Amino acid sequence: MTPNPVSPARYPLAIVGAGALGLNFAARLAALGPVAVIARSAARAAELRAGVEVGGVRFRPDAFGPDALPGADWVIVLVKAGDTAEAARTALAMGPCGVVSLQNGLTGDVLRAVCGDVPAGQGITTEGAFRDGLRVQPSGAGETLLPPGFEAVASMLQRAGFKARIEPDIVAARLVKLLMNLAINPLAAIFRVTNGALVAPPHRRLLDALVDEAWPVLRAEGLPLDAAAARERVVAVALATGANRASMLQDVEAGRRTEIDAITGVFLDMARRHGADAPTHRAVFTLVKRLEG
Ligand SMILES: NC(=O)c1ccc[n+]([C@@H]2O[C@H](COP(=O)([O-])OP(=O)(O)OC[C@H]3O[C@@H](n4cnc5c(N)ncnc54)[C@H](OP(=O)(O)O)[C@@H]3O)[C@@H](O)[C@H]2O)c1
Repeated sequence: MTPNPVSPARYPLAIVGAGALGLNFAARLAALGPVAVIARSAARAAELRAGVEVGGVRFRPDAFGPDALPGADWVIVLVKAGDTAEAARTALAMGPCGVVSLQNGLTGDVLRAVCGDVPAGQGITTEGAFRDGLRVQPSGAGETLLPPGFEAVASMLQRAGFKARIEPDIVAARLVKLLMNLAINPLAAIFRVTNGALVAPPHRRLLDALVDEAWPVLRAEGLPLDAAAARERVVAVALATGANRASMLQDVEAGRRTEIDAITGVFLDMARRHGADAPTHRAVFTLVKRLEG
């Protein structure tokens, strides 16, 4: 076993989830100051301490398993949505001032339920990274928006060179991101196509149907786009990420659980609360669940 590095007892920042995005964030943050990386297990933490390639550079993180956690002032959660509750318990055990998720889907309620009185919230990020065997490859710089109250985290990200800021209307920003995920991810996974293929026949009708069904519900929740702008934004994102293979597609192909519950599942609950019917979303939810096996 590789011993834990000489590391501070308490870190200014910890990242729970040593996957594609977590390691991508951690590698850049560690160039500026101490950052703790929390892996799922002690064994995985030891592997990481021995070194992992991130963006072509060897990175030896201060990695810990849940059995030997350091203290941390702030925690970023970057596990897949289905692992949020466990990751939140790990985050809480580090005695933080606040816990913020940058996950896809809506996971803020799960996070807050675990964190209780400790401030917890959900931001969004369009940073991209993917796992290529044991390596992590960044797949594009984006922007990270954090809820008010997480100024310290925004400042650490900025100092590490990330485009990051506090977004006063984080609810609206999250709804825009949810709309993109609702429209693009399930169709990419079901038809096993790259994002760009969704804007052309035969997939385009389904893409538009998902947007049109989602729009009234999301609008009532605070989506800052009219119906035409919602369609346009989804098409623009699908084209801008045309060559990308959506994470839900990658999960289906790898036989992993997808984030459909935190994306379409959460939306279907929202639609029910608004008395709205969303048959195309129900259909894609069932199909993706079937693909998950
Ligand atoms: N990748 C991107 O480009 C991107 C962009 C925007 C948003 N996101 C979102 O960011 C989140 C993370 O995505 P990702 O692509 O980085 O996923 P990922 O590569 O699957 O990484 C998640 C990591 O979390 C670990 N994990 C799971 N449960 C844990 C726990 N309780 N404690 C500590 N670690 C735990 C997993 O360990 P195991 O490997 O052992 O399961 C895995 O290493 C997702 O919500 C995703 O939608 C990703």
